[in-house]
Amino acid sequence: MYVYDEHDHKIIQERVAQFRDQTNRYLAGELKDEEFLPLRLQNGLYIQRLAPMLRIAVPYGLLSATQVRKLAHISRVYDKGYCHMTTRQNVQFNWPNLEDVPDILAELAEVEMHAVQTSGNCIRNVTSDQFAGVATDEIVDPRPYCEIIRQWSTFHPEFAFLPRKFKIAVSGSVDDRAAIHFHDIGLQIVKSENGSVGFKVLVGGGLGRTPVIGSVIREFLAENDLLTYLEAILRVYNLHGRRDNKYKARIKILVKAMGPEEFAKRVEAEWEHIRDSQTLLTDKEIKRAKSFFTAPDYEAIDVQAAEAELANAASENKAFSNWLARNVTAHKVDGYKAVTLSLKPTGIAPGDVTDKQLEIIADLADKYSFGELRATHEQNIVLADVKVSELFNLWQEAKAAGFATANIGTLTDIICCPGGDFCSLANAKSIPIAEAIQREFDDLDYLYDLGDLDLNISGCMNACGHHHIGHIGILGVDKKGAEFYQVQLGGNAGNNAALAKVLGPAFSAEDMPTVVRKLVDVFVEKRVEGEQFFETYNRVGIEPFKERIYAKAS
Ligand code: HEM
Ligand code: SF4
Repeated sequence: MYVYDEHDHKIIQERVAQFRDQTNRYLAGELKDEEFLPLRLQNGLYIQRLAPMLRIAVPYGLLSATQVRKLAHISRVYDKGYCHMTTRQNVQFNWPNLEDVPDILAELAEVEMHAVQTSGNCIRNVTSDQFAGVATDEIVDPRPYCEIIRQWSTFHPEFAFLPRKFKIAVSGSVDDRAAIHFHDIGLQIVKSENGSVGFKVLVGGGLGRTPVIGSVIREFLAENDLLTYLEAILRVYNLHGRRDNKYKARIKILVKAMGPEEFAKRVEAEWEHIRDSQTLLTDKEIKRAKSFFTAPDYEAIDVQAAEAELANAASENKAFSNWLARNVTAHKVDGYKAVTLSLKPTGIAPGDVTDKQLEIIADLADKYSFGELRATHEQNIVLADVKVSELFNLWQEAKAAGFATANIGTLTDIICCPGGDFCSLANAKSIPIAEAIQREFDDLDYLYDLGDLDLNISGCMNACGHHHIGHIGILGVDKKGAEFYQVQLGGNAGNNAALAKVLGPAFSAEDMPTVVRKLVDVFVEKRVEGEQFFETYNRVGIEPFKERIYAKAS
């Protein structure tokens, strides 16, 4: 992973000192609320319903065991003993004291972490595929390009005050696991016919109040042109994006208003001026970025023997074989697998991890996965490089620590925002809805029979919980001061990107488990052999679901 050089250390130290001074002045009454606001936002600090919330940047989700131990320490000393993995692969602390935040940032700086640009109208933390570098369907490892984008965008003076926040995601695999269609810029790594590396460029995707699927504005951008082209896109947005209306300020609105063709034309015109500027990436620079993401010391493994032993252990232990089927993913190196630790056991807010669990995760990463791990946008953790022969031991340790729930990709692997429990923007609670649904579907065999099913919940239309792109999406709505839930169907986050459609009138919290049960019943009745929920939905449409849910009792 990327390691700070002396300049990085210096810059982050200076930022910590600057923010300490700003906080002290605010606490002493020398800075007004509105003066402190942009300063704190530049350091990831929100003021929430009950306490401040501090968002820490985790570049493309990659963490070292040392960093995770530091997060454990911070959770214990400065927070309530846990932290939260977000849908943008970041980490949030929900209960720090304002006066402790400079100390927290100083502690983070010790392990090469910070909260810069995790809020505010700037280019946010770049996100990617949690299986980057190890996926069997990978075209090219996206991480060096993510790192190049990160270095370019961090503290970029021209893009510090955009009309609105700006998010970039990069996928390097055939299967998009980074939701590139739903970012301000989505980059898909592709190879040209002659084998050269480049990007398909999408712009104007996003969720929230106006959900939009990104448009492709360029089929192939050579890798050396990455930054100049991003710069051209951002310039067009910075110049023409609306600043008069917060709700219309995202690039998706501009692209929609202009039309993707016109937008692309303007980007190309701007790019012509700057494509040969000093931002043009040299091969040397790309090589340098790649040098941070070399393969770990994989051992030569007798794969047949290891697989045979694994099959044996699986045949004797159903719980273990369930876990292998759901939480363990193929790896491009023979004899290794990627393992997803589930942060979704029933009864725990999705994505929450305690200090002790963080320490265990760090130990597991050291013991089984070269000291590295990844946060996923589905709010789980991945150990990317586990030897097949160690899976059984890892499973046992993960089970003891509470994150071996074998539910990855199933209905109970719910993406869920904090909703009304923490967030001051919420219309309704979301965590208790997730829990009630998890309780309703606590039979693993039944979940496996249902197959892959994304259920996403947001407490308001900002869509932090990605409800628009769940196969089943749930949105908290407010009706005359009471909490209700709207159901949406048919969303899809990956290659078959789709936005969900509203089913009909909203339901009360108590109704939600039964509503989901009925939706699932319709799927089970209508599916043909081998079909997943979204495939059945695409074939039969929304009507059968609507009829069942809103059927009048006769
Ligand atoms: C707790 C306080 C939080 C506040 C005040 C907050 C606020 C917001 C707002 C206002 C938006 C919409 C912005 C827009 O589209 O114009 C948004 C979007 C988003 N938030 Fe949050 N959020 C919070 C927590 C979280 C958490 C915990 C997560 C992750 C689980 C999260 C992930 C996201 C994501 C992924 C989006 C992007 C939707 C898009 O594609 O536009 N947020 N948030
Ligand atoms: S979706 Fe709404 S309720 Fe949920 S975290 Fe985002 S802003 Fe808060």
